[in-house]
Amino acid sequence: MDRRKFLTFVGGAGALAAMNANQKADALEQAMGQELEENQLGRLRKSAICRAYGADDSWDRGTANNAKYLHMGEDPRLPKMSEKPTLLEFFDKRIGHSSHLLQSARLAKLNGLPEKIVLACLLHDISVIAYIAGDHGYYGAALVAPYVDEEVSWAIKYHQSLRFIPDEDVGYPYPEAYIRYFGEDYKPEPYIYKDAEYARNHKWYMTARQICINDVYSFDPNVTVKLEDFHDIIGRNWRDPEEGLGFDGSPSAHMWRTMIYPNNSL
Ligand SMILES: [Fe+2]
Ligand SMILES: [Fe+2]
Repeated sequence: MDRRKFLTFVGGAGALAAMNANQKADALEQAMGQELEENQLGRLRKSAICRAYGADDSWDRGTANNAKYLHMGEDPRLPKMSEKPTLLEFFDKRIGHSSHLLQSARLAKLNGLPEKIVLACLLHDISVIAYIAGDHGYYGAALVAPYVDEEVSWAIKYHQSLRFIPDEDVGYPYPEAYIRYFGEDYKPEPYIYKDAEYARNHKWYMTARQICINDVYSFDPNVTVKLEDFHDIIGRNWRDPEEGLGFDGSPSAHMWRTMIYPNNSL
């Protein structure tokens, strides 16, 4: 790192001269850590996994003997969930009444789309909000697949790739917001193009595309959308399992349990 910057960090040449070799090495390490936080990498929003486990190796995993407390069971910092949680309970206690999801579903409804597409819009970013952001279409689809019509989970999966591929003919230009978020030169990875191409030729293409079209990037702050407005659509198009989400042994039960107990040590 820059010597002048380091001298400022330690409080000047006099302070540095008074340090022994160990102290100098420690100070350099601290200064470099601070520099990392200050540079662009440090300002990047971290994913849930990075926040939990440390993107910079600073998180100490600890050892069996260091007497660190590892959390298990109900987390007192989170609202306790019932023994048989439903989707609506997850909205109340884990997902939150997300404006983004509600506004997207509202738009789909205003556009006169079928109920299952409205539901797909209501759930399309469930993973970003309550599970994980990376590959959120795939995770979101996996989460909901056992409880919705196959077309709904298929569309949630493929909205992830299609949103990067404009289709002006159906009213979907490349989102201007993505230029701001990811830069002008951003090119998605090859698997995104491959999956978008596959989706483009699928019979449910327009279902996934409708999620993108109704995926609002800026919305009217004066409009308040309530989850209650969609209770009837959820009731007709979502199957809550008898045992409760997380406890029915479905292929995504473990994912719902992770949301119930997100801080469990194991
Ligand atoms: Fe999305
Ligand atoms: Fe979205």
